[in-house]
Parts: sequence; C-alpha cells; structure tokens
Amino acid sequence: MTSTRKTFDLVVAANRLPVDKQVDEHGNVEWRRSPGGLVTAMESVMRSNPGAWVGWSGDAGEAPAPFDEDGMHLRPVGLSAEEVRDFYEGFSNDTLWPIYHDVIVPASFHREWWAAYVRVNRRFAEAVAEEAAPGARVWIQDYQLQLAPAFVRELRPDVRIGWFNHIPFPPVELFAQLPWRAALLEGLLGADFLGFQRQADARNFVRACRQLLGLRTKGERVALEDGSGRRVRATAIPISIDYRGLEELAQRPDVRARAKEIRESLGNPKVLMLGVDRLDYTKGIRHRLKAYEELLLERHIGPPDVTLVQVATPSRERVEAYRSLREEIEQTVGRINGELGKIGAPAVHYLHHSYPREEMAALFQAADVMLVTPLRDGMNLVAKEYVTCRHDLGGALVLSEFTGAWHELHQAFTCNPHDIEGLKQAMLRAINTPTRDKERIMRALRRRVADHDVQRWARRYLAALDAAPDVPAPDPRG
Ligand code: ADP
Ligand code: F6P
Repeated sequence: MTSTRKTFDLVVAANRLPVDKQVDEHGNVEWRRSPGGLVTAMESVMRSNPGAWVGWSGDAGEAPAPFDEDGMHLRPVGLSAEEVRDFYEGFSNDTLWPIYHDVIVPASFHREWWAAYVRVNRRFAEAVAEEAAPGARVWIQDYQLQLAPAFVRELRPDVRIGWFNHIPFPPVELFAQLPWRAALLEGLLGADFLGFQRQADARNFVRACRQLLGLRTKGERVALEDGSGRRVRATAIPISIDYRGLEELAQRPDVRARAKEIRESLGNPKVLMLGVDRLDYTKGIRHRLKAYEELLLERHIGPPDVTLVQVATPSRERVEAYRSLREEIEQTVGRINGELGKIGAPAVHYLHHSYPREEMAALFQAADVMLVTPLRDGMNLVAKEYVTCRHDLGGALVLSEFTGAWHELHQAFTCNPHDIEGLKQAMLRAINTPTRDKERIMRALRRRVADHDVQRWARRYLAALDAAPDVPAPDPRG
C-alpha cells in the first residue's frame, strides 16, 4: 500500500515549537507563544516560506499529535522528564550554554547528559526525515541540535541540510574543554551549509575543525576526508526581525495610547529607562543594576525624575545558575528600592512576566533609554525591536559591544558592561545628548534594521543553502 502522508519542501527543526504547551491545574491545555528570539524570528520566516516545524512542545511526556497552525505544520517531538533534565536543562543549558557564552558561569560535564543529547538529536533527525519531501531543504536551528545534521544526512542523503547558530560559537580554547568536541564538530559537518551570527563565530568553527579534527580548511570552507569530497561552508548571516510587521504594530493608535498610559502610570518621569531580557546571566542585568544604583547614590539621577523598568522573563528556572541569578537580582532590586526609592516612586519596577507583543511595543515606545547590556549575546533582537518601535525617532539605545547586534548598530551608545564606570557614562550620555543628535542616531539605527530585516536574512540563508553542496563535479569520462 502506498502512503499518502503529506511531506514538505521546507522543514525547520528547532528545540522548541513556536508554541508552548501549558497545562493548568484542571488539566486544561493551552498553547502559548514560546519564549526567546529564535521563535520571534523564525515564526515570521515561516509565514512567507510555508513548511513543517519540528520541535519540542515544552513539557515532559509523549509528543502530542502533529497539528497545523498559522499555515505551518507543527510536528512535536516528545521528551521524557529525564530527557528534559539531561538534554535540555543539562547538556544544552548547563554544558553548552556556558561554554558558548565565555564561561560566565562554570560549565558542568556529565556523561549521562551527553547520552541524552545524542538520543534526542537522533529523535529530531528521525522526525525531520519523516516530514521532508524528496530533495527538501532542511533547516536545523541552534546549539541544542548540533548532531542532527549528520543524523539527517544518514537517514536522508537526498535532502539539503542547513544549520544556523543563534548563539555565539566559542573560541577553540573554550570549545576544546568539551569532552565530546569531536562528535559535535562531526555532527555539524553533516550539514551542507552552516550559518553564524558573526564572522568571528564562523572563524572559530573553522579553526576548531582544523585544530581539533585535523581537517584542511580554506577561507570559509572545511574539506571532509570521508571520501565524499564534500566541502562545508561556514559563514556569517546575522539574524533580524520582522521590521515592517513590528513597525506597523507600533504605529497602531491603541499601542501608542498604551505607551502614554504606561508613562502616566509611572508618574510621567522625565527619563524612563527600560531593560527587557530573559532572566539569564548572559544578559548583564546585575551589571546594569549596579551602574544604575551607583548613579542614584552619586545623585546624578534619581526618582521620581528617573525610573527604571526591568522586565525579566522567566527562563530555565530549574537550572541552578538561573535560580541563584533570580535570587540575586530580586535581592538587589529590593535593596535599591529600600534605600533609594520614594513613596509612590520606586527606583526600579521589576516585572517577572511574559507580555503580549502589543504590550512590548508600547513599553519600547514609552522608554527614553533602552538598556541592552549583555556580557555575551549571539544577536539580541530586543535592541532591533526597540529601534523599530521608535518611528517617532525618540529614545536612545545603550548597547553592549558584546552583542551580535552591536556589529550592525554601533552608532548606539556603546558600552562594555564589565566597565561599570564606562556603563554609567554611556547611560548618562544616552540621557543628556541633545534631542537632535539622538534623532540622527535613531534614524541611522532604524535604517539599518529596515534594510536588513528577517525576510532578507531568510532569503540570503536559503540562497546560500541552495548554492552550498560543494562536491567536485563528477569526471565526465566516468
Ligand atoms: P533571547 O533569544 O536570548 O531570549 P533576544 O533578545 O534575541 O534574546 O530575543 C528575545 C525575544 O523575546 C524578543 O523578541 C523579545 O521581544 C521577547 N521578549 C523578551 N522578554 C519578553 C517578555 N517578558 N514578554 C514577551 N516577550 C518577551
Ligand atoms: O537562541 C537562544 C535560545 O536558546 C533559543 O533557542 C531560544 O530562542 C531562547 O534562547 C530561549 O531559550 P529556551 O528555549 O531555553 O527557553
């Protein structure tokens, strides 16, 4: 009997589906938008490039049945409770995440976490192999799925395989700490094309292949020695956002009215500062709060004239480094408010929630100074979203030079978040620079994002993938 199962010409695989399964105490199921920049970007790409999305539903247990949403075919992959612990919280977010972010916190190495990583990557590859039409484009995302390219190639040599890393790729000196470094590189080399946020990330990967696998490399290409003659290309294609979609949302009268209302409910401060991050140690929230506290203590600024709203999205709450970060941030906010706040005018408004897109756009419009101060960040889409929402040319962006975004938005008020004095100066400059100069800067930042939006990113990526298979032409004499 022949199967009539529908297959897809484009299959995206990412650790998370664009929606997250939430079950309340009565057992009612609700699907909510998943957190993070990957979903923000890929969701809009999939709207113009229909296909299937293979990913985890966000809770432990059997995979729910595949379903269609917003023109996408969603194919859930199931993770058991142990796999959530060992693959997601463990190897992905307590081994790879710290190594790939400059070891801001120490990485943990456990052989059973690695075993789960291998098993889950194989499961993703099997799901991809089932969803892909003959000759399909398979686009694998991020550090959680570095073995999947080679597994997919084993199962489906007919498809074209791309991988994109949303986070940094570490220098070989850090990457080399991983006991499973060779297997990770070999997994990635199963792809035809590898995309990175910055050229430095692509170079780190190529160098790792040369030094740790002894492979020959030339410029952006790594030559395999498996008899296939394949060469894998690794280059930078920095990700972006749906500029037009978000700008349109930010122009809506209800969103503009909400921005005014937010300022009013905060007592119409002269300067509203804003931070919006997943509660992650890479985001430099501690450094930001320290600089802000010192500016208050030194009486450069203070409530009610100036206030800070810090939105900290809940993230990876069972991983110890995230738990202790949350405690530290919440204690610091409490101390700053206790010592420096006034009745009716706290120095910091701390919000540990997720919000709808409209509310985020209104917050961005309400803020005079946006603080994006990561110690390391692959891109940071919040920076791009902030400037996109400022069609009024108002506002000022303080941006860490350790974000991928800074390589495109370097006209922003640049800071090195480790340099607290420098960070304070950048914050003061963002407040005090004359409006005309700030408008000029904002215009330049907006132009960059408008010209380099996520649709352009996807087009460039898929064109590079189509051009990628790099095998010597067969000898016509046979
Ligand atoms: P990361 O992928 O590390 O979380 P990014 O800055 O690249 O960081 O992307 C974060 C995305 O999540 C952005 O689209 C941002 O608007 C969104 N976001 C962050 N915090 C919240 C929140 N509290 N509620 C809703 N969306 C949020
Ligand atoms: O790119 C970084 C990343 O891990 C993405 O996979 C995701 O968009 C985001 O951070 C959120 O992380 P998590 O899926 O672990 O909640």
